[in-house]
Amino acid sequence: MKRYAHIIGWGKYAPEKVLTNDDLSHMVDTSDEWIRTRTGIRTRHIVGQGETTATMSVRAAQAALEVANVAPDQLDLIIVATSSPDYLTPATSCLVQDALGATRAAAFDLAAGCSGFVYGLSVASGLIQASMYDTVLVIGAETVSSFIDWSDRETCVLFGDGAGAVVVQASEPAGGVLASVLGADGSGAEMLYVPAGGSRQPTKADTVAQSLHFLRMDGRQVFRFAVNVMPTAARQVCEKAGLSLDDIELFIPHQANDRIIQAAARTLQIPTERMFTNLERYGNTSAASVPIALCEAVEAGLVKRGDHLVMVGFGAGLTWAAAAVQWSMPWPVPPQPWWRKALRQLHYRWARWRSWTLRTLRRLDAEIRKLFNHEAEGEIQPSQREEQTK
Ligand code: UT7
Repeated sequence: MKRYAHIIGWGKYAPEKVLTNDDLSHMVDTSDEWIRTRTGIRTRHIVGQGETTATMSVRAAQAALEVANVAPDQLDLIIVATSSPDYLTPATSCLVQDALGATRAAAFDLAAGCSGFVYGLSVASGLIQASMYDTVLVIGAETVSSFIDWSDRETCVLFGDGAGAVVVQASEPAGGVLASVLGADGSGAEMLYVPAGGSRQPTKADTVAQSLHFLRMDGRQVFRFAVNVMPTAARQVCEKAGLSLDDIELFIPHQANDRIIQAAARTLQIPTERMFTNLERYGNTSAASVPIALCEAVEAGLVKRGDHLVMVGFGAGLTWAAAAVQWSMPWPVPPQPWWRKALRQLHYRWARWRSWTLRTLRRLDAEIRKLFNHEAEGEIQPSQREEQTK
């Protein structure tokens, strides 16, 4: 029996703190007018104290699990698409797995720049169709603000922080993720990159002094790449899914620049109303942009059961990705009994307690071993020395 990968839950999180174009005009030589007319962005969200890619991912994931009515321990796999992880290692997805108490889930991060979420959705759908997993959580989350040079007006006005998540589950009725197209061109790596902090240029005093740990971008080149690749990838994925552009009720493009989105709409000859945008309020949230936009489109009632959607992204790598989806969920979702919600809250408390207990036990274990090793070393060392002198 053929299995399909359906999106059954969705959720988003944006930090409370909002940075306006006017705020930015006090930080660098820019203006609200320049930012609005060149990009379409008015405000963006920026993480507050204690917020990270993992904490935002958890909030978006909890919202998605709520909609899906799926318990964290039903998850088989967690994919976090991000280019701004909490640590270089371990993967942010492992922190999310721990915080959710998703005890059965495997977890890995996926780095494909702003295309990361659509890449993740495609991987999840492939694993589900291959019967490897039944339920996969795909998150796109970014704290781009941590990698921004706040004195560089060419990048700092563009980006924002946030997270979006979907729960993808196997089921038999046709629909869900119908097709995807993924692509990469590493010859464009330096068009959008963070030069230092990796194995090529590990962080040192001089890399920090030269600000090499901040995002660098050739905006014009990325713009040119984007206006070509977005319509091409959207067309290809429709063809692969056996759909025409007219069959697509809504396109959900990566929210980088309104001019890029308008240009893609012109090339595809579709009215701009069929291109969802929300970058005015979020800026470019990189891998989080498509899932946040998807959530907002659904919650605005723009996506109905049976509708066809195309999500399309592009970004660092260079990479691009498109997915054609047949939506199978109602909106609004039927309300759940109060005790289900209460149980989930209890589960998250238990997950925090579990994590704390495991960490404490490991620390205790290490201390006890150290103590015994010292004693053992004390006993062994003299005899070893004697043996050595014989
Ligand atoms: O997720 C993928 C990530 N990246 C992107 O999608 C970025 C794609 N590129 C873009 O969106 C656009 O290229 C930008 C918004 C980055 C720039 O817009 P543009 O129309 O391509 O501007 P430009 O780079 O050609 O610069 C025009 C002028 C320059 O001044 P001069 O050389 O003409 O005197 C810039 O120095 O605008 C200047 N400029 C600014 N002025 C005020 C650049 N940034 C700013 C700024 N405020 N923030």
